[in-house]
Amino acid sequence: MSLPGSTVDTPPTRVTPGSSARAHLFTSGSVERYRRVLADGIERVATRVAGADRPFTGVTPDELAPRIAGIDLDEPLGGTEAALDELQDVYLRDAVYFHHPRYLAHLNCPVVIPALLGEAVLSAVNSSLDTWDQSAGATLIERRLVDWTAERIGLGPDADGIFTSGGTQSNLQAMLLAREEACARAAGAPGARPTRPQLLSRLRILTSAAGHFSVQKAAKLLGLGADAVVTVPTDADRRMDVAELSRELDRCRRDGLLVMAVVATAGTTDFGTVDPLPPIAERCAAAGVWLHVDAAYGCGLLVSPTRRHLLDGIERADSVTVDYHKSFFQPVSSSALLVRDRRVLRHATWHADYLNPARAVTQRIPNQVDKSIQTTRRFDALKLWLTLRVMGPDAVGALFDEVLDRAADVWRLLTEDPRFEVVTRSPLSTVVFRYLPAGPGRLLADEANLYAREALAASGAALVAGTRVDGAHHLKLTLLNPETTLDDVAHVLDLIAGHASRYVRTRTAAELSCPVA
Ligand SMILES: Cc1ncc(COP(=O)(O)O)c(C=O)c1O
Repeated sequence: MSLPGSTVDTPPTRVTPGSSARAHLFTSGSVERYRRVLADGIERVATRVAGADRPFTGVTPDELAPRIAGIDLDEPLGGTEAALDELQDVYLRDAVYFHHPRYLAHLNCPVVIPALLGEAVLSAVNSSLDTWDQSAGATLIERRLVDWTAERIGLGPDADGIFTSGGTQSNLQAMLLAREEACARAAGAPGARPTRPQLLSRLRILTSAAGHFSVQKAAKLLGLGADAVVTVPTDADRRMDVAELSRELDRCRRDGLLVMAVVATAGTTDFGTVDPLPPIAERCAAAGVWLHVDAAYGCGLLVSPTRRHLLDGIERADSVTVDYHKSFFQPVSSSALLVRDRRVLRHATWHADYLNPARAVTQRIPNQVDKSIQTTRRFDALKLWLTLRVMGPDAVGALFDEVLDRAADVWRLLTEDPRFEVVTRSPLSTVVFRYLPAGPGRLLADEANLYAREALAASGAALVAGTRVDGAHHLKLTLLNPETTLDDVAHVLDLIAGHASRYVRTRTAAELSCPVA
């Protein structure tokens, strides 16, 4: 018997007669459909990834938008096969494939298969990590991974943390905790009691010029003033300048401002640099200031067999952001916030009778919502769990090490190539550089680099990122795929040089009003 509205799929073994919608619910009666439908989806993705000869088709928003807008969402296709055919047209064909070795743009990693298995399991079981009564073992698995990560960082026996949706949320929650701790300290200090608005306007966060913009966003969301984030200059290696940090701390004290946190970055987004954590931790301890380390990118060093020492000093942080979805080869989302003193997580706690009544605390019922700024929350920890149980941490660290080795080779390649200028050497896996036209064409360097990046993306042959360094447009390679070879990068550099030099020739010829050769 074929179900109405289900022309392609064979029916599940047990469904309510006449109810086509019910057949799509994942229940004990539909496991056969579940097996078949997911296998079909996996097959489509596998075929697309296997056949990808470049990371992108170069599709433009103008080309894609009408295809998506033209779909009548009130008219279902009725079966998985047809929906997957349509999906091929509106998504799978033109998606950006981080799996491809010439995807070299942002902090997106290829993902490990045990984590994909975790993703399939977690969405099917669909635990919600807010309360024990919606998650059971999942809560304990997440807690175990939080403890494991905190141990790797060295945060000590009172550490705790929570999985989050990403580095942005981890940084936001860290700043929330730091703000509340600063306000509590100020309220307990002798002298006149400032009002909360007065206090908030005096709070400052110090972070380096290369810090992530989520710190600014967090300050805004937390109701701090527009000038709450103070940018500390970086040294020649684009790391936070510790002397400048000391100066800023002194200046804030003199001006009656309260530094609620210093945010050090272990793996800056643009330069992959690690701020000098030990002296920064010294300054924070001396000033009694919360130290947050944003290790969204650099956290992979926690499992690196050869480079763990680059994170020395992180163990002195009050809070740490880690993004497993950057350097642990995990699918988005997979991130956590760790804290040295579990008691500070109370600033994210609110008890509701219908969900996490206060009595649950005395009954020792582990409700993760007490530590999170989310309520319903995915069991993202399962992906990391299966990764560690199948591969182990050393294998993950070895993958990260491979890309760091490759990035060092790429840096050498670029420094020896007169067509390019390199900004700084990263201990991680980014390389920021620009094409430098020779002679008078040098004046067109900015435009040539912008053009080269766009032309490369339009061709789909490779994807690289762009950024501004000291006011000038640069290109950025972020390597996170161990499959990327030096030959891949050399080829991409030739393509960039080709696009950029063609641009300069065309512009120069146009300005001289003579045809391009
Ligand atoms: C240093 C750093 N911190 C935080 C973030 C934000 O992480 P997410 O994109 O997971 O929110 C990023 C993202 O690139 C980052 O590089």
